[in-house]
Amino acid sequence: MAYSKRRARFLLALATLITLLIGEAEAFLRAAKEAAEAPSPPSAATTSSGHQAREAIDRHGVHDPANPDRDRLQTIGEATRHLPYDANGFPDWMRALREGLINPRADLKGQEAMNVLDLDVVMKNTREMPHVKFPHRSHTLWLACANCHPAPFKAQAGANEIRMADIFRGNYCGLCHDRVAFITFFSCQRCHSVPQGDKRP
Ligand code: HEC
Ligand code: HEC
Ligand code: HEC
Repeated sequence: MAYSKRRARFLLALATLITLLIGEAEAFLRAAKEAAEAPSPPSAATTSSGHQAREAIDRHGVHDPANPDRDRLQTIGEATRHLPYDANGFPDWMRALREGLINPRADLKGQEAMNVLDLDVVMKNTREMPHVKFPHRSHTLWLACANCHPAPFKAQAGANEIRMADIFRGNYCGLCHDRVAFITFFSCQRCHSVPQGDKRP
C-alpha cells in the first residue's frame, strides 16, 4: 500500500516534469506559476491555493492596462460567484448542473432534448494508476455523441490507445479537460477513480 502510494507520488512528480517540459502547460499553469511559489499539485482537500489559482486568471495581462474601461470587466470571482467550486477553486460544473444552477439547452431554441446515455466505461490502460471511469451520463447531459464518436474516440471499450501525454497535449479527453472542463493536472483522481484489484505482483 505504502509502496503504491509512493509510486503514485512518483508518477505525479513525473507528470509535473513532463507537463512543464513539453511547454504546453496551458494558461492555467502559466498563471499558477506566477501566483504560487511552486507548481506542486494540491491535495483534493486544498482550497486556499486553488482560489489563488482562480484569481490568477484575472492577471492574464491580455487587456490593455491603460484602457479606462478595463476595470468594468467582471473578475472571475464576480462571474462565478453563484457557482460551487471544486477542490482546486474552479467552478464545479457537474455540481452546478446537478443542483439545477445551470440548465444548458440541447439546441438554440431550447426545444430538443439531449440524448442521455447512462453507461460507464472503465478504461484500464493506466499502469499503476487507478483505472479511469468514463461516465457517459455526465457527458451526454450536455454533449452529443458526435462530439466524441467516431473521433476522437472509437465507440468500443478498449479500442483507443491513449497516453497521458496525449491528454496533456490537448488530445482525447484533453480536447475539453484543461480547457472548458476541469483541469487534468490537479485532478488525477476525478478520472482515475476506480482502484485496481489484487492484480499487482
Ligand atoms: C480527464 C481525465 C483524466 C485525468 C484528469 C487524468 N487522467 Fe491519466 N488517463 C486518462 C485516460 C483516459 C487514460 C487512458 C486509459 C485507457 O486508455 O485505458 C489515462 C492513462 C494514464 C496513465 C497510463 C498511460 C500512460 O500515459 O502512461 C497514467 C500513468 C496516468 N493516466 C496518470 C495520470 C496522472 C498522474 C494524472 C494527474 C496528474 C492523470 N493521469 C489525470 C484520463 C485522465
Ligand atoms: C465526451 C465524449 C463522449 C461522448 C459525448 C459520448 N461518448 Fe461514447 N465513449 C466515449 C469513450 C471515452 C468511450 C470508451 C472508449 C475506450 O474505452 O477506448 C466510449 C465508448 C462508447 C461505446 C462502447 C461501449 C463498450 O462497452 O464497448 C458506445 C457504444 C458508445 N460510447 C456510445 C455512445 C453514444 C450512443 C453516445 C451519445 C448518446 C456517446 N457514446 C457519447 C466517449 C464519449
Ligand atoms: C467533448 C468534450 C469532452 C471530452 C472529449 C471529455 N470530457 Fe469529461 N467532461 C466534459 C465536460 C464539459 C464535463 C463537465 C464539466 C466539468 O466537470 O468540469 C466533463 C466532466 C467529466 C467528469 C466528471 C463527471 C462527474 O459526474 O462529476 C469526468 C470523470 C470526466 N469528464 C472524464 C473524462 C474522461 C476520462 C475523458 C476521456 C476519456 C473525458 N472526460 C473526455 C467534457 C469532455
